[in-house]
Amino acid sequence: MTKNNPIGLFDSGIGGTTIWQEINLLMPNEDTIFIGDQRYAPYGIKSKQEIVDLSFKNIDYLLSLGCKIVVVACNTATTNAIEEMREKYSIPIIGIEPAIKPATILSKTSKIGILATKGTITSDFFASKVKLYPETQIIEQIGYDLVTLIETGRLHSDEMKALLTSYLLPMVDQGIDTLVLGCTHYPYLTPIIETIIPADIKIIDSGKAVAKHTKEVLEKLDLLTTNTSAGANYFFSNTDIEILKTFTPESGIVEYRDF
Ligand code: DGL
Repeated sequence: MTKNNPIGLFDSGIGGTTIWQEINLLMPNEDTIFIGDQRYAPYGIKSKQEIVDLSFKNIDYLLSLGCKIVVVACNTATTNAIEEMREKYSIPIIGIEPAIKPATILSKTSKIGILATKGTITSDFFASKVKLYPETQIIEQIGYDLVTLIETGRLHSDEMKALLTSYLLPMVDQGIDTLVLGCTHYPYLTPIIETIIPADIKIIDSGKAVAKHTKEVLEKLDLLTTNTSAGANYFFSNTDIEILKTFTPESGIVEYRDF
């Protein structure tokens, strides 16, 4: 693997572009290939085995394109399949998980809320992380249908606002002072969430931490690019590319691919 091979990222859909943004901000000269597995979205309601199989399919495709590292830009895939992925592949694989630890540090009330997919919240991996913080009251909420609404162009709909209100206000009533966005699609909901919950509740996600960790791993393996100008950024979808296009930068190359 050479330093100038691309960084590969995958998600079930457009959510992982929030992670791509942080990676590009930190390492603008890296070439990147992002694949949104939109034909099979959402992952959050699939079985563990289905998520493992889809993750393998995505990594195989990224490897066929010569990626030097894979960033799993999806909490659901990480919490259900990261062990299986690391067992099967020798390439470095970076995962993303809900930011429980930073939230417990930030919280003054020791009450935090976590909004994530069913697949993430019901995973053994997630349960094992929650157990590490017995002093903190962790209020979990499954974000049913949120990903589907985003993937079908209904991010700014009344339906979205109503669903979010029904998920968030019960957590507010229970006294949370920190809200963890445990799905990479959800940072796109932040402006709407801010109109629903009190302004003093902090909203956090794992994007920056994942980008920082990716850079550290590349550095350690001596795989940081030697490019001195902005990298090329490819975004592939296995469905209609129109939705993905609205979440990618103008300089990005967005194409249909059959993976
Ligand atoms: N964006 C993903 C996550 O972080 C997956 C959402 C889904 O497909 O349900 O969990």
